[in-house]
Amino acid sequence: MTERTSSSTVGIDAIALAAPRTYLDLVDLASARGVPSDKYTKGLGAIRMAIAGRHEDPVSLGTDAASRLFARGGIDPSRIGYVAVGTETGIDHSKPIASYVHGLLGLPPSCRVFDTKHACFGGTAALMGALEWIASGAARGRSALVVCADIARYALGSPGEPTQGAGAVALLVSERPRLLELEIGHTGTFARDVHDFWRPLSRRDALVDGHFSVSCYLDAVAGAFGAWRDEDVRRGGDPLARTAYHVPYVKMAKKADRHRAIACEGLDEAAAEARFAREVAPSLAFAAEVGNVYTGSLYMALAALLHAEAHVLEGARVGLFSYGSGCVAEFFAGRVAAGAAGFARELALDEPLRDRVRLDFDAYEAIRRADGDEPAGVTAGSAVDLPSDRCAFVGIDAAERRVYRRASPASAPRPEGSVARIAAA
Ligand code: HMG
Repeated sequence: MTERTSSSTVGIDAIALAAPRTYLDLVDLASARGVPSDKYTKGLGAIRMAIAGRHEDPVSLGTDAASRLFARGGIDPSRIGYVAVGTETGIDHSKPIASYVHGLLGLPPSCRVFDTKHACFGGTAALMGALEWIASGAARGRSALVVCADIARYALGSPGEPTQGAGAVALLVSERPRLLELEIGHTGTFARDVHDFWRPLSRRDALVDGHFSVSCYLDAVAGAFGAWRDEDVRRGGDPLARTAYHVPYVKMAKKADRHRAIACEGLDEAAAEARFAREVAPSLAFAAEVGNVYTGSLYMALAALLHAEAHVLEGARVGLFSYGSGCVAEFFAGRVAAGAAGFARELALDEPLRDRVRLDFDAYEAIRRADGDEPAGVTAGSAVDLPSDRCAFVGIDAAERRVYRRASPASAPRPEGSVARIAAA
């Protein structure tokens, strides 16, 4: 790669996902909880949620997403100079997940390596740092690896239970990106100290004030979008063709876009409904299959959008809304690069959502009840119930160190068909 010049663009060069091997169908959850299944499938817009097994954690999922990024994107790992993991699923008070990912992938020792945390906004914080690192010239032609990896867990039987999920998204951030050129320095931000959702150190499950969290999210849409739009009007920006939102559950993206349309832009109900179907619904297919992936949620929506529609979006402007409870939000935008459609096809973005195993309800509950029961006393030969092309958390050794099995290179079969497009929630 060459040194950055003032005419260079910076943005998302490649994307890859990772999802746990197993999922729970929301109809099975509804039936076990005695809830009408329409509440979950229509009321929340969820079809399935990914459930992380005993050997899957943010390190293994993040490593799988990043190794898929390198393989599918044809990326040379020696080009990486920055490795940041956005996560809110901590595994250690000190050692970052980014160090494990850096080590498991054998990335260069010259990298800057760290984690970022602010609820679901952690991935965006890492991405913004990467963009500014490149734009400042400090990258000296290198690229940044940004990984978002989380496991969303709420108490069994709680209202949050149908909005769980797990997964990781890896982003390569570079000059002259092949997917999305981001508008650096043009963002709208909004922050407020609230207790809408929190994860005390003593617990594995999140605590949430559910309906209040929805209203905090909507206030943040108005605040961040309003700030972005004021500046955009001043700059004379062209209209957004699509917008991807943070998706804690599919219906939330619809509520967000409706709030923006009616409260901020003066549209009526019918126009808001039509805009959602046209400009937001195409980004929601993966979230309906996986559930909330916290830090990766917005970028999974972007991946779904490019997977479904890059062929009609080259040259078009796409808005992105990131929300992290607590709370902070940022609205920003980018332009889909020329050639993105062909490259998105090569990335086979939906591939990790295929060939997953459906859990029955009892198996799901058994996994959740065993949460935190991590295998101790591991040895090199400890058994792992994941295919060998997956990175796996093996367990905790006698010195309380986490031990991982590195994935053997995947044969990366080409995908057939694609994940079903969901109907508007
Ligand atoms: P709830 O109170 O059980 O559900 O929990 P509800 O009664 O509000 O019903 C949900 C929807 O289903 C409603 O639609 C009902 O009308 C509908 P709405 O009025 O919202 O449009 N409904 C039905 N539809 C069809 N047929 C039926 C039926 N019955 C009801 N039979 C809640 C909902 C989202 C509060 C809960 O799941 C929860 O607490 N989830 C976790 C919190 C969350 O996801 N918050 C989102 C905003 S905060 C955020 O995004 C940050 C986060 O990602 C964390 C981070 O930043 O780190 C969470």
